[in-house]
Amino acid sequence: MNYKNLKWRKNMALKLDYNNMMAEYVGAEQGFTNDLFASNTKLVKNAFNTVKENRGKGMMGWTELPYNQNEIVEDIIATAKDIKKKFDNFVVLGIGGSALGPIAVFQALCHLRHNELPKKVRKAPKLYVEDNVDPERMNALLDVIDVEKTMFNVVTKSGSTSETMSQYLIIMDILKKKLGDKAKDHMIATTSMSKGNLIKIAKEENLKTFYIPDGVGGRFSELCPVGLLPAAVVGIDIKELLAGAKFMDKICMNPSVKKNPALLLALLQYESMKNGKNIGVMMPYADSLKYIADWYCQLWAESLGKAVDNEGNYVYAGQTPVKALGVTDQHSQVQLYREGPFDKVITILAVENFRSSVEISQGLPHIPDVNFLCGHTMNELINTEREATEYALTTANRPNHTIYLNEVNAFTIGQLLFMFEMQTAFAGAMLNIDTFNQPGVEGGKNATYALFGRKGYEKTKEEMDNSPKKNEKYFC
Ligand code: PA5
Repeated sequence: MNYKNLKWRKNMALKLDYNNMMAEYVGAEQGFTNDLFASNTKLVKNAFNTVKENRGKGMMGWTELPYNQNEIVEDIIATAKDIKKKFDNFVVLGIGGSALGPIAVFQALCHLRHNELPKKVRKAPKLYVEDNVDPERMNALLDVIDVEKTMFNVVTKSGSTSETMSQYLIIMDILKKKLGDKAKDHMIATTSMSKGNLIKIAKEENLKTFYIPDGVGGRFSELCPVGLLPAAVVGIDIKELLAGAKFMDKICMNPSVKKNPALLLALLQYESMKNGKNIGVMMPYADSLKYIADWYCQLWAESLGKAVDNEGNYVYAGQTPVKALGVTDQHSQVQLYREGPFDKVITILAVENFRSSVEISQGLPHIPDVNFLCGHTMNELINTEREATEYALTTANRPNHTIYLNEVNAFTIGQLLFMFEMQTAFAGAMLNIDTFNQPGVEGGKNATYALFGRKGYEKTKEEMDNSPKKNEKYFC
């Protein structure tokens, strides 16, 4: 309940350090001068106003999630309490926006070995998020869970995604064979209230159902029941998560770009893209934030990767997001980031205070080249290495910036998710594209439906049948 205290909230505010994006630090060729702000006043103002005018409307319903879910949150908390009492496992069946948020928040806010802890210590079911249709993975899951002690949560907004619906069919069949009429007590549906097949199925099967609001797209859905239910089941304080999002939303309502980190990040990335920086690396220095990078990659890629702008001109917009993990990737990718092409911007996520501390043991006073580590902590080591990477990148003229989290908790994670969502909305407005559609993803879904003979996709099937056949001569 710390988040109710204003002083604590201020202390937990995220901080953005963008020094190393500036020419003073990375040189005139790669860095920005103060002209960045002066020459973009109109762009920033228009982007800010576009987002402000559209918030809460159309596909920007997600901006209201920190405000309009009181009743739903109580239902989720009550449902989660019941699940905790009755079940050993909670399995999410979903993909894309229906999976990456739950995975990211679980990793960030639960014990890093949650599923391996003894039940008494865990005090919550194990969580599995099944976001693929690899048959080996499905069978591996079934090898380790007892379905009779498992609650499944099928999550799909469209209610027709092949991966999710095939998982649903497999699991429901197993449940019905084992449990008969009681199968329905092991499945919760999270889907659109107004469209799709899952809502019909949920009604037919009499499943407990949570709704994904119409104006909340998959990749913007972590803060609605898609993410809140799994989070509550594993013991995360979802009210604090939403309070963090609300706190960040207020900050993002500031039209002054230097005081609005989401608007500032959007501008930095937009201008970087214009300067040929087509790759955006997200590099958290904390295992807990590892999957925040995956979640961000989807948000940034699927929202900004667009062929046409709002006027229908071909623009082929976007920046390729890449995930890296500090310090692990210092021993692989950082070589490229420091010495490869000048086509990247690196976003570092830093944690000032870790939730635990490990001292590096004493023991080798006669070997000074190892002994220098002794008596320090791993906490000092990871953050020192982060500073060292920052230094190495900066001195090689590689633009980078750091987002600081005082600590990883539900409040700071709520802020981080919401800030990235707002950053994406602002960047999409700067690029003058539709940030919230995903024709490319839907193209892939439709091709699968066509190949599997789904009714209504005959034309796509015909087009696919008429496309050039693979030639033997190009196999090796
Ligand atoms: O962001 C998106 O819209 C997508 O990544 C979807 O989340 C993903 O394709 C799954 O869609 P659905 O929730 O309809 O199953």
